[in-house]
Amino acid sequence: MKRFTSKKQCMFIIVIFNLVLLLFYSISIIFKNESRISPEKFPVSHAFINSVYYYPTSKSLGKNALAFTMALDQYSHSMKNHKFTVLGYNSTHSTESIATSQTEGIRICRYVTLMARTNTVDNLEKIKIESNGVSVEIPFKIARYTAPKPVIICISPQFAAEQWQMFLMHVHVANRFGGHLHIYLTSIIESYFKLMKEYERQGYITLDYWLRMKFSDPKTPYIEPNENVEWRHQAGAQTDCLLQYKEAAEYIAFFDMDDILFPKEYPIYLEEFNSVLAAHPGTNYLFYGRREHEFVKASTLSDFSFTDLVKSLRSSQTIKNGKVVVRPDAYNSTWIHNSQHVSFDTSVKVKSPSLVHVQLPVDKNGKRNHSRDLWKIEFGSLNETIREEDVRAIEEDINRMKNSTVISTLALLLPNSDFYLPIVFKCYFDAFYKAAFVARTGVPRCPNADICDLPQREDYKCIHSDAQYISGPDMRPVTYHFSTSTFWSKDIGCYQ
Ligand SMILES: *[C@@H]1O[C@H](CO)[C@@H](O)[C@H](O)[C@H]1NC(C)=O
Ligand SMILES: *[C@@H]1O[C@H](CO)[C@@H](O)[C@H](O)[C@H]1NC(C)=O
Ligand SMILES: *[C@@H]1O[C@H](CO)[C@@H](O)[C@H](O)[C@H]1NC(C)=O
Ligand SMILES: *[C@@H]1O[C@H](CO)[C@@H](O)[C@H](O)[C@H]1NC(C)=O
Ligand SMILES: *[C@@H]1O[C@H](CO)[C@@H](O)[C@H](O)[C@H]1NC(C)=O
Repeated sequence: MKRFTSKKQCMFIIVIFNLVLLLFYSISIIFKNESRISPEKFPVSHAFINSVYYYPTSKSLGKNALAFTMALDQYSHSMKNHKFTVLGYNSTHSTESIATSQTEGIRICRYVTLMARTNTVDNLEKIKIESNGVSVEIPFKIARYTAPKPVIICISPQFAAEQWQMFLMHVHVANRFGGHLHIYLTSIIESYFKLMKEYERQGYITLDYWLRMKFSDPKTPYIEPNENVEWRHQAGAQTDCLLQYKEAAEYIAFFDMDDILFPKEYPIYLEEFNSVLAAHPGTNYLFYGRREHEFVKASTLSDFSFTDLVKSLRSSQTIKNGKVVVRPDAYNSTWIHNSQHVSFDTSVKVKSPSLVHVQLPVDKNGKRNHSRDLWKIEFGSLNETIREEDVRAIEEDINRMKNSTVISTLALLLPNSDFYLPIVFKCYFDAFYKAAFVARTGVPRCPNADICDLPQREDYKCIHSDAQYISGPDMRPVTYHFSTSTFWSKDIGCYQ
C-alpha cells in the first residue's frame, strides 16, 4: 500500500496541512462575517461505493429493491436529495429507475455517507448507473434473509486492533444475552485475527472487510477521501450492516467494540428491547447513553477472568452521547450515533441501563500511559447492574473456549501489553477530543485520525483488508469507484 513512505514525508504533509489551516484561518479573519470559507469545488464529485444490496422482497423497501451505500464529495456538487439513474437487467428485460437518496454525516467533512434506494426488475442479474449517456456496471450482493441470532450488533471498523481483552468481554457478554457481533476489520494483529476467526467458526461472530477507499483510475481531480471523511467512514459501515441484515434481524445495534450492553430487567436482549418498546407505544428504536468505565485487564489469556474483570470495573458520572438499537424497518441509513432522518419522537431514551463504555482499560502490571490522562475522567464504584448468575455463566463459556486446542495455542501469541492504544488515543485526542470535550472550542476540522503515524513492529504483524479496486468511466456530476474480490492481506501492515 502506498502510504507515507517516510516520517519526513509525513511531517512535510503535516507542516503543509498546518500552513493551509493557518491560511484558511487568516482568510476567515478577513471575512469576519463568513464563519467558514467556501471549499474548493471540482467539476466531478468522486464517490466510493461500499456496497449494493438487492432485496427480491423487502418489508420496508418494497419488491425488487436495491440499496446503495457510498461516500461521496458533497462540496463539488450538493448531494442533498441527490437522484441517480439505475438500469436493472434480467435475462429478458431491462428497466430504468430513479434512485432517491439521503446523506448521514456532518458538513465539515468533504465526503459524506449516502444511502440510496430504488426498485428494479425480478431476478436481477446486472445493474448499471447511468448519467448523461455514460454508464458503469456495479457489482451487487443479495441481502441476507437469515441471521444467526435475532439481535445483530454491528461493530464499527477496527484498525491496528490489539485489544483482544475488550473483544472477549464483548463477544461473551453479547452471546450470553442472545446477540451476534458483525465486526468490520481494516487491520488487526495476526494472532488476534486468528482468535476472531475461531470465534467466527464457532458461530459467535461474523467478520467483514472494511476497505480503505481508493480511486484506482480517477480521470479528474479529487481530494483524498480517507482524510476527509468522518472517522474512516464509520457511518458507511454501520449503514452497510443495517442494509445487510434489514430483512433478517429483529433488532440491529450500532456499537463500537468498547460499547457493552448488559440488559437490566430481562435475561436476553430481545425480551428487554421488546418490553421497552411495548411500554412506549409508537416507538421503534432505543437510545442508550454511554457511561465511561475503566477496568483492569489481564495481560495473558490464561490470566483472563471475567469475574476479576467485572470486580475491577469502575464507573464515571460522565454519560456520553449514546448509541441506538433499532428495529430494521425503522431505519434506512444511520450516522455514528443515530440516523439524522428519523425523528427522536419514535425513540425511547433509556435512562438505565447505560452502555458500559470501556474505552481505556488499565494494564494489570500498572503501566499507565500518560496519554490516557490527557482527558481527565473520575471513576468511582460500579454504577451499572451486572447479575452474578450472568457473570458465572460467562466465565464458564470463556473457560470452555480457553480449553479448545486452537485457542490455547493462540493464547501465547496474543499481545500482552498496549502498543497502538496510546498512540491512537493521542491522535484522537489531538484531532477531536481535546477541542470537543476539554477545551470545548468546537471541532476544528473533519473528525478523523487518518494522518496518525502508526509505527510498524517486527514481532507483531497485521492482517489488513484488501480488494481489487475499480474506477468507472468519467461521469458527471458523479464518477463512481468501487471494489470486488475482497481478501485479507499480510502485505500491508497495521494501518488505517
Ligand atoms: C425507507 O425507504 C422506503 C422506500 O423508499 C420508504 O418507504 C420508507 O418510509 C423509508 N423508511 C424510513 C424510516 O425512512
Ligand atoms: C424480468 O423482469 C420483468 C420485470 O420485473 C419480469 O416481468 C420478468 O418475468 C423477468 N424475467 C425473468 C426471466 O425473471
Ligand atoms: C449512579 O449514578 C447516578 C447519576 O448518574 C447517581 O444518581 C447514583 O447515586 C449513582 N449510584 C451509585 C450506586 O453510585
Ligand atoms: C477446561 O479444562 C480443565 C482442565 O483440563 C477442566 O478442569 C475444566 O473443567 C474445563 N473447563 C471447561 C469449561 O470445559
Ligand atoms: C505513551 O504512549 C506514547 C505514544 O502516544 C509514547 O510516546 C510514550 O512513550 C508512552 N509513555 C509511556 C510512559 O509508556
